[in-house]
Amino acid sequence: MNYNRRSVRWIFDCSKWYPTRQDWIVASTSIQVEEKERIGKFFFKRDAKNSMAGRLLMRKFLTVYSGLHWKDIQIFRTEHGKPYFVNGNDIPPLNFNISHQGNYAILAGEVGDVSVGVDIMTVEYKSGNGLSEFLRLMHKQFSADEWNIVTKKDYSEKEICRMFYRIWCLKESYLKAIGTGLTESLKEISFNIKDEQIQKNQFITSTEITVRGERLDNWSFHEIMIDNDTFAAVALFPKNEVLINKFQPLTFEELVNEAEEIIPVDPVYCDTFFNKENLPNSK
Ligand SMILES: CC(C)(COP(=O)(O)OP(=O)(O)OC[C@H]1O[C@@H](n2cnc3c(N)ncnc32)[C@H](O)[C@@H]1OP(=O)(O)O)[C@@H](O)C(=O)NCCC(=O)NCCS
Repeated sequence: MNYNRRSVRWIFDCSKWYPTRQDWIVASTSIQVEEKERIGKFFFKRDAKNSMAGRLLMRKFLTVYSGLHWKDIQIFRTEHGKPYFVNGNDIPPLNFNISHQGNYAILAGEVGDVSVGVDIMTVEYKSGNGLSEFLRLMHKQFSADEWNIVTKKDYSEKEICRMFYRIWCLKESYLKAIGTGLTESLKEISFNIKDEQIQKNQFITSTEITVRGERLDNWSFHEIMIDNDTFAAVALFPKNEVLINKFQPLTFEELVNEAEEIIPVDPVYCDTFFNKENLPNSK
């Protein structure tokens, strides 16, 4: 079938979402039952919120770009846990991936035959012995070239932490695009960072990947800083020349604009959500 290649990048700031009971009813009746059960198992409210936002992001993407009704979308998972959609007749191939960490849930979606993986990472700064011990433990997950750049001589402790998380984010985006997750050997996936400095809202496409010693020229990596301490990376195969350089922020109303009830209201489930623990310093 004929379709227009499209790239979609959405972000939802979960830290600014204080769901009302009605929000949670809408959200929790608009997802598949196994998704609802999974989200129900989170101990902390923030994790349940982030995961819920991720599920709504993917269902919105699939609804908008398939032309199907929200309630007719069926999302499957591979044996390694990657969610996917099977496009029927007259529906373009729809590939997507989500990540949720810290304040945000994000989606990278592709209309077309593209493998896509996305990851978001907020830097956790460490210093002194804490940093040395962290680096000692994580060293074996990085290639020699990567380690040289993470621990570059003129880097401050802050810059070391930032480069560490940036490369980690790239590694996860690739592993999520191929769908294996962290079951692959991370050391054999090596990133060559050409632009070392990256600022808020800056968009970088120059980073290259080598896997088991072979440079993979047909992959592209789109990196963007969401805020001063948060990296996002999108891995794409084959290389995508359509450069979407920004994650478009969505409100909760936009997130559920197309939503339809899939499963019945469950008042006990809602009570359980509002009784979940808050993380320290969060609501
Ligand atoms: C994929 C993985 C790296 C993501 O971990 P993370 O960085 O903590 O989490 P992120 O927020 O970036 O991404 C989580 C989302 O990625 C997606 N995801 C899960 N497994 C995935 C995989 N193998 N590949 C791509 N995406 C995956 C899901 O949508 C998940 O969110 P959801 O469960 O709420 O829908 C990690 O879960 C992993 O290594 N999984 C594979 C392990 C495995 O094989 N498990 C088998 C049993 S399911």
